[in-house]
Amino acid sequence: MELEALREQISGLNTVDKLKYLADKYPNRIIFSTSFGWEDQAITHLIFANNIPIKVFTLETGRLFTETYYVWNRTLEIYNKPIHAYYPQTDLLENMVNAKGPNSFYESVENRKECCFIRKIEPLKRALKGNEIWVTGIRADQSINREDMHDMEWDEGNQLIKFHPIFNWTLDDVKSFISEHNIVYNTLHDKGFPSIGCAPCTRAVNPGEDFRAGRWWWEDQSKKECGLHATEVEARKV
Ligand code: ADX
Ligand code: SF4
Repeated sequence: MELEALREQISGLNTVDKLKYLADKYPNRIIFSTSFGWEDQAITHLIFANNIPIKVFTLETGRLFTETYYVWNRTLEIYNKPIHAYYPQTDLLENMVNAKGPNSFYESVENRKECCFIRKIEPLKRALKGNEIWVTGIRADQSINREDMHDMEWDEGNQLIKFHPIFNWTLDDVKSFISEHNIVYNTLHDKGFPSIGCAPCTRAVNPGEDFRAGRWWWEDQSKKECGLHATEVEARKV
């Protein structure tokens, strides 16, 4: 199976060489999604500073924090490399907001999923189209759901391989890397935001609280993956 063979081929390589190997093997069919959190900034640095031909993209939901737009812009200035923005489809967004108002996500899980679908999932599908490898900044210790994942997995929903190059890094590893290489990062991380998504759906967490407690904090714990990475999580529960 391709996945098993690939895992074997990259197993002894360091993080940069893994990315280079995959970029070489899948030219123009490997793509990295960034939300400009510090995990993603570390990977962006690895890709841009080493000139690895992997397309970098972001899902511009229209509801990001001001601090996130700042990091995005600084990253463009520092590396002078493109970051492709995928936007929601105007008609879908207009229909939802006109029917339910701008903050419908607080009213029900269904509304929240609808908003995530329109602002993230549908654009993600467009971004992933034609690609064979999807690189993400997921780490094992970000949530219980993620602990039993693997750094390389088959994504049945999107029909491609997902690769998480810093899957086994701890948060301290990420912070050290950011500081060592003087990488621009989102200042919200210094204000109690370990995980940063859309502004209306992310709050700071208290010391000792779960890493993802500030995401969709008003919802039941079990519902709190937004769908970007839900396929693996759901598959694992079966
Ligand atoms: S989420 O599923 O809860 O939203 P999370 O914030 O943990 O995801 O981020 C995990 C990875 O998903 C990031 O490292 C990044 O690769 C991808 N990701 C999350 N949000 C976005 C976004 N808005 N644009 C692009 N990629 C994203
Ligand atoms: Fe909408 Fe919130 Fe999901 Fe962002 S995180 S797409 S604002 S529901």
